[in-house]
Amino acid sequence: MQDNLDGHVDGALRGVVPPLPLARGELSDRDAAELHALKQLVRLRIGLDFEGYKEPCLRRRIAVRMRARGLHSYSAYADLLERDPDEYQRLLDAVTINVSKFFRNNEVWDAIRAHVLPALFALGEPVVRMWSAGCAGGEEPYTLAMQLIEYAEANGLARELPRFEILGTDLDARSLLTAQRGEYTDFAFTETPAWARERFFTGNRVRDEVRRLVKFERMDLLNDPYPPGRHLVLCRNVIIYFARSVQVSLFERFHDALSPGGYLVLGKVETLFGTGLPLFRSVAGRERIFVRQQ
Ligand SMILES: C[S@@+](CC[C@H](N)C(=O)[O-])C[C@H]1O[C@@H](n2cnc3c(N)ncnc32)[C@H](O)[C@@H]1O
Repeated sequence: MQDNLDGHVDGALRGVVPPLPLARGELSDRDAAELHALKQLVRLRIGLDFEGYKEPCLRRRIAVRMRARGLHSYSAYADLLERDPDEYQRLLDAVTINVSKFFRNNEVWDAIRAHVLPALFALGEPVVRMWSAGCAGGEEPYTLAMQLIEYAEANGLARELPRFEILGTDLDARSLLTAQRGEYTDFAFTETPAWARERFFTGNRVRDEVRRLVKFERMDLLNDPYPPGRHLVLCRNVIIYFARSVQVSLFERFHDALSPGGYLVLGKVETLFGTGLPLFRSVAGRERIFVRQQ
């Protein structure tokens, strides 16, 4: 699978900096051992499992931090982390790419409106539980809330809205603070349709009627238990950073977190494979919308 997102970010970096040391190519035995020790240190200190991430992508991101601190070996960088623990947050920021937008990939939201929302509103459940896994600054779960409100109003279903719960989770606590504040820079709006900008924002701030529908929690998708009984899981532009074996185990865990007939939406450059395939049926192939098989 093409690592488009990371390629995009690296492309931006490539314009201003020469190739980074240790960013690509074969590692010497010594560098490989030092990288392994660095991963262990990060796991020990902040509980983050770097083994789960794709190594080339991880090495490029670590190299960006090493360059910023003028260091040329993983062991020197590990020493720095111990001397200056604030560097852990900067490393985390470099590895977890928190780029998101409201209504990212409009056509996916159109497909969710066409294929998923009617089924969710038709559910007889007292509570309909939705989860945006890897929600960055909250743009995705808020977009879902906006779509729900718009759909409900257009179909005379507004009284049903209190049944809907949206959970947004992310590893990065700082992104979750942005989500809770609900105020954004102009970048977040470059894919927002005019009707939504008008209806759901005051300036660059999400209106309270939208914010009320969404709760945020910190969660590590690699290590924490998943919230059960979901009717919709959005996990877009997150698994692309994980090793393939980890991606497959996530498909299994999403399957278990979903109620029978629940929906899974992946990012446009992500897809199911391996033992994940028989667990779901495709509903909208190009938009990566799947439904849980029984
Ligand atoms: C590129 S953003 C995607 C945001 C949103 N889903 C979208 O498509 O616009 C990737 C997000 O995944 C989060 N992430 C990375 N590793 C994670 C992990 N192990 N557990 C939970 N979230 C993680 C990052 O913090 C980041 O906010």
